[in-house]
Amino acid sequence: MTLSRRRFLSLIGGGVIVAAAGGGYIGSRKATAAVAPWSLAGGYGEVRRDALSWALLAPNPHNIQPWRAELIGDARLALHLDPARSLPHTDPFGRQLTIGMGCFIELMRMAAAERGHAVELVLYPDGEDGPGPVALATFVPGAAEPDPLFAAAATRRSCKEPFDARPVPEAAAAALAEHGVVVTRPEDVQTLRDLTWEAWVIEMETPRTWKESIDLLRIGASQVDAAPDGIDLQGPFFNLGGTLGFIRKEDQLSLDSMGARQTYESYRSTMARTPAHVVQVSDGNTRRDQIEAGARWLRLNLATTALGLSLHPVSQALQEYPEMAGPYARIHALYARPGQTVQMLGRLGYGPAVPPTPRWRLEDKLAS
Ligand SMILES: Cc1cc2nc3c(=O)[nH]c(=O)nc-3n(C[C@H](O)[C@H](O)[C@H](O)COP(=O)(O)O)c2cc1C
Repeated sequence: MTLSRRRFLSLIGGGVIVAAAGGGYIGSRKATAAVAPWSLAGGYGEVRRDALSWALLAPNPHNIQPWRAELIGDARLALHLDPARSLPHTDPFGRQLTIGMGCFIELMRMAAAERGHAVELVLYPDGEDGPGPVALATFVPGAAEPDPLFAAAATRRSCKEPFDARPVPEAAAAALAEHGVVVTRPEDVQTLRDLTWEAWVIEMETPRTWKESIDLLRIGASQVDAAPDGIDLQGPFFNLGGTLGFIRKEDQLSLDSMGARQTYESYRSTMARTPAHVVQVSDGNTRRDQIEAGARWLRLNLATTALGLSLHPVSQALQEYPEMAGPYARIHALYARPGQTVQMLGRLGYGPAVPPTPRWRLEDKLAS
């Protein structure tokens, strides 16, 4: 779950209060360090660092960026899941974190291929459940061709805004069918709008899962630059509120708070303003299946970007905690055969252009 900056702002009337407070400098500040990794990608002058600097721009749940990389010798690296970065309430089995690692690995692989390097991967060399690395990667020069989808890597986004009423053209839906089930039939889309909204309300009304999102709020440019991850709220009002302390995370925990009420209303309209969905299912649900699911989501997100379409993961109904059992069972009854797992569910359509989200720099993510 991610709060929409624009709509959060619209409720609390940011512009007026900022003017009244005369907070010119603080108000107009932009988080620049937090988005620098988007312009640093590929500029490290060494193929593994270059590939990693692209990979860290991958989509990942709650923008928690759970990866750590360890360079080994001249041509290898180990990729680790950082145990300090988990989502124990919304992702108790680490399934979504692993999907995020799969997105990362696929983008790393594609970035290396741009330089003609293949990446030979050994997944979970110490077993899927041990403390060992997620992957060992060996970079092999002259063994790969560039992938056309990589051209969309710098402009790929998760777009968490309401979409136009404009339908997804049949040709685009057909082009995306290799990546998942594209749902465009109006009655099926309505079923998923209702299901995603119901699931979103459960997440919000379950105190521990709501708190998991609130704990990840970064309010205003200073907080975003200091911790470029989680859910970033930016703009003049948040800059002042975060710096002067009149917008506090803990106040948003109450569902009666103005921010929470606004978030509720805005998400209702976001889920409703969805002309199509995409569902991705896997036959198994091992860690390897989840890594593969991440690669598929990344490729779908690049393909939608190339087609000028927006994509927004809406994962609440796929989350594995008791309160979510109803929506979880229904999405599986609709789209999965017995034994299969719905790994990703997304809204698809035409949304507004959205800015890049914050990232920790490569240097912060390299194990020494
Ligand atoms: C496994 C997975 C689950 C996600 N679930 C959600 C979700 O339920 N709601 C949402 O708004 N974004 C979701 N996201 C998108 C992330 O919030 C997003 O990737 C992250 O904030 C970075 O933003 P970016 O993709 O625009 O670079 C998910 C991403 C992944 C990989």
